[in-house]
Amino acid sequence: TPPPAVNEPSLSYAPGTPEREALKETLKAMKAEQRDVPMTIGGKKITTDTKIAMHPPHELKHTLGHYYKGGPEHVNMAIDAALEAKPAWEAMPWQERAAIFLRAADLISGPYRYKMNAATMLGQSKTPHQSEIEAVAEIADFFRFNVQYMTEMYEDQPLSEPESAIWNRVEYRPLEGFVFAITPFNFTAIAGNLPGAPALLGNTVVWKPAETQIYSAGLLMEVLEAAGLPDGVINLVLVDGPVAGDIIFEHKDFAGLHFTGSTKVFQSLWQTIGKNLPKYRSYPRIVGETGGKDFLVMHPSSDVQQVVTALVRGAYEYQGQKCSAASRAYLPKSKWPALKEALIRDIKTVKMGTVEDFSNFMGAVIDERAFDKIANYIEIAKKSDEAEIIVGGGYDKSEGYFIEPTVIVTGNPHFTTMEEEIFGPVLTIYVYEDEDFEATLDLVDSTSPYALTGAVFSNDRYAAHKAIERLRHSAGNFYINDKPTGAVVGQQPFGGARGSGTNDKAGSIINLYRWVSARSIKENF
Ligand code: NAD
Ligand code: ALA
Repeated sequence: TPPPAVNEPSLSYAPGTPEREALKETLKAMKAEQRDVPMTIGGKKITTDTKIAMHPPHELKHTLGHYYKGGPEHVNMAIDAALEAKPAWEAMPWQERAAIFLRAADLISGPYRYKMNAATMLGQSKTPHQSEIEAVAEIADFFRFNVQYMTEMYEDQPLSEPESAIWNRVEYRPLEGFVFAITPFNFTAIAGNLPGAPALLGNTVVWKPAETQIYSAGLLMEVLEAAGLPDGVINLVLVDGPVAGDIIFEHKDFAGLHFTGSTKVFQSLWQTIGKNLPKYRSYPRIVGETGGKDFLVMHPSSDVQQVVTALVRGAYEYQGQKCSAASRAYLPKSKWPALKEALIRDIKTVKMGTVEDFSNFMGAVIDERAFDKIANYIEIAKKSDEAEIIVGGGYDKSEGYFIEPTVIVTGNPHFTTMEEEIFGPVLTIYVYEDEDFEATLDLVDSTSPYALTGAVFSNDRYAAHKAIERLRHSAGNFYINDKPTGAVVGQQPFGGARGSGTNDKAGSIINLYRWVSARSIKENF
């Protein structure tokens, strides 16, 4: 049995440290290198005639390399490869499967550390810290903790009757067929966990990353291969989502979907799966982590600077492109003048630019589609007489997709930017009358269809517990006196309900149970 998992510590990359220099060197080398990313199907590297250039979102004139885009034939090849690899992978002792993922974690936290960090910084525009906490620490944690949870799951066995020679046991078989993993652009760690968790349990996988994540996804595939993952266990296809979906959701051996991305896409995939149900051998497992409209509520008893720091970090780290990002805040009137002053002051110190300048706190948003969508929300606020932009509001895509950290204040708690997921550095604030704290909790609960993360700041324990009770179904990850981002594997299992997903808690035993189909065996001799 492997030793209990522990969280991988993050490096600080503080000035004067050797790791800072090592990361800078790695960034320089990777930028000079021109990495091309092929598909990986059945262990073979597949190139095509369609080469798509990859650019850092913060430096559009630079080309990082190209990826080879595939079509329907590659999706079919990937399904065949997954099905071919399945019997041997499924039959392999679980300790050997575990060893491969533990080795992958050690490679990521060891020899590949700077490369994983740099690939995520360049491809997804993350600062060194934002990249380190997820593309190194969180992904290593997912692999190590999943191994621990797998052993706990296997140990979960029913009662037997030794006196009467009856042996009952539960066999945690992988699903019959293959799993389809679809990953979003915003976390390299999710790209590791979505194919990784089902594979660890003996499933084989077709993996389709977001097109804006391919630069780091290619490196991750390299790490898994270096760790000894057999051919065909995880097959990386670089195709448009609907091209993959049209074939996979028609296939009789489709056994499960592990998805993270927008609510709209997830719902459409679920509907397609529903229509195709009679075609499948078994009811497919559907696990999806989707959108959010995450809140921060301040009780009048709490500290102004603590809340301001949580808002700046929660709303603007990684340009607000975390599903968990603080995006609507409810602040008490008595504290508002002090909050407003401190918020404007702190946001004005935020530096934005290329992530290779380590003093920047923010990079660019992921692509032009995201840039235009976020800019459109800012314009809605600028044109409305129900909203005021108190800081930020500027944007520029001449060099990269840069959007200023923006604060909108509205007197209408149902203003568009209070309700809809923007997925960018835009925070909307509603100021409530102090005596209306409990009514404000009702407002928080009823304003959005999502229930992913939420934070309540209070130095009054009674008020904090009122919030825990009243907001019972409003967030899958709930924080008292902390920002709503930054869940740690093994500490705060992550996921939301309502429009935010199936709440199968990434990085927990709950998630792992979804990738097995248990068989009860009774032996009576
Ligand atoms: P997206 O929905 O645009 O894309 C997600 C993935 O789905 C991508 O790989 C995309 O190519 C693929 N896809 C799109 N249409 C498809 C189709 N018809 N068939 C198959 N695949 C298809 O999301 P995104 O912009 O990459 O990520 C941002 C979204 O993800 C936000 O809504 C965010 O809240 C959500 N998210 C949620 C969590 C969570 O844990 N709840 C975590 C990260 C991101
Ligand atoms: N797990 C990520 C966070 O908590 C999404 O911020």
